[in-house]
Amino acid sequence: MKILVTGMNGQLARSLAARAQGGGIELVLAGRPELDLENPLTFAPILKSVAPHMVINAAAHTGVDQQEDEPQRAFRINAEAPAELARLTRLAAIPIIQVSTDYVFDGKSSEPYVESDGPNPQTVYGRSKLAGEQAVRSENPDHLAVRTAWVFSRYGRNFVKTILSAAQKRKRLQVVVDQFGNPTEAHDLADGLLAAARFWRDHQGFPQGLYHLAGQGRASWYEVARQVLEVSKAMGGPIAEVEPIVSDQWVAKALRPANSELNSERFANDFGYSAGDWPDRVSCVVGNLIKDSVIGQDTQEADRVSVAPQFSKPTDEAV
Ligand SMILES: NC(=O)c1ccc[n+]([C@@H]2O[C@H](COP(=O)([O-])OP(=O)(O)OC[C@H]3O[C@@H](n4cnc5c(N)ncnc54)[C@H](OP(=O)(O)O)[C@@H]3O)[C@@H](O)[C@H]2O)c1
Repeated sequence: MKILVTGMNGQLARSLAARAQGGGIELVLAGRPELDLENPLTFAPILKSVAPHMVINAAAHTGVDQQEDEPQRAFRINAEAPAELARLTRLAAIPIIQVSTDYVFDGKSSEPYVESDGPNPQTVYGRSKLAGEQAVRSENPDHLAVRTAWVFSRYGRNFVKTILSAAQKRKRLQVVVDQFGNPTEAHDLADGLLAAARFWRDHQGFPQGLYHLAGQGRASWYEVARQVLEVSKAMGGPIAEVEPIVSDQWVAKALRPANSELNSERFANDFGYSAGDWPDRVSCVVGNLIKDSVIGQDTQEADRVSVAPQFSKPTDEAV
């Protein structure tokens, strides 16, 4: 089975590439400029030349604060492009998996969100990703929309790497303590999507269209930062104190949900896959980054928190 994956340099695409080896799935990764979500004219030629059996759209505009200033671009990349990709996959009679986000919710629930909960996005990012889900659903019935959250990995830009990088430069960090979610290791997300792809291969369809898939366990950004720094200290990596602050003390353009915990039971029931516990996964990623001496690579955001990625929560004083 051949799968075309967009966003080839992103955390998810790189994790899919790492995990798909063997197992009868061939991945073809594509990225800019050959496949540019802002240029729909690039879609058909790549679909024609690769001739995949499935598309996974792992590309997105993920700069949450940046998008508040460029909503049209956000909608082009996160909504209109998935719509066109879905339309082309329907014409080619193949399925598409669209990856979406916990930010479709307003974060006011005290319970983990299930798929039937009503979305109410509070940011341009959340609105554009919700529009992307809806467009994919209407353009290609043979689709899956998988919402995930707080993605981290050894690749690219993410909160875990930001904390490590910041701890190399500062002795004291401040991190938000009153926002909660499910930290998700990108390889776990990749494994889940590959399980869904294999399900489609074996059954020629998906059971349902909308799923949540996130790491096990609830955490605040503060708890994640503490875990990162504890493991780092134990492994001889960067050390810093971490001080809890509330959201009001952290100025950002986009409003983050207070609680975006996702219930991933439907995914586990239908595809037989659950992501790992977040503390284990954070420990593993931090341990590997320190062992491989790659802290600070791919983490430009640590010096530019005004354009921090969506899930970097430290204050601009702290990181
Ligand atoms: N990261 C999270 O915490 C998180 C949380 C919830 C949901 N998600 C969703 O999960 C999916 C994967 O996220 P991720 O963490 O892997 O994101 P990521 O590391 O930020 O990667 C996104 C990729 O999209 C590519 N991209 C951006 N604009 C593009 C365009 N116009 N044309 C083609 N490619 C473009 C980027 O390319 P360049 O490398 O060239 O910039 C990058 O490779 C996305 O749908 C995201 O919305 C992520």
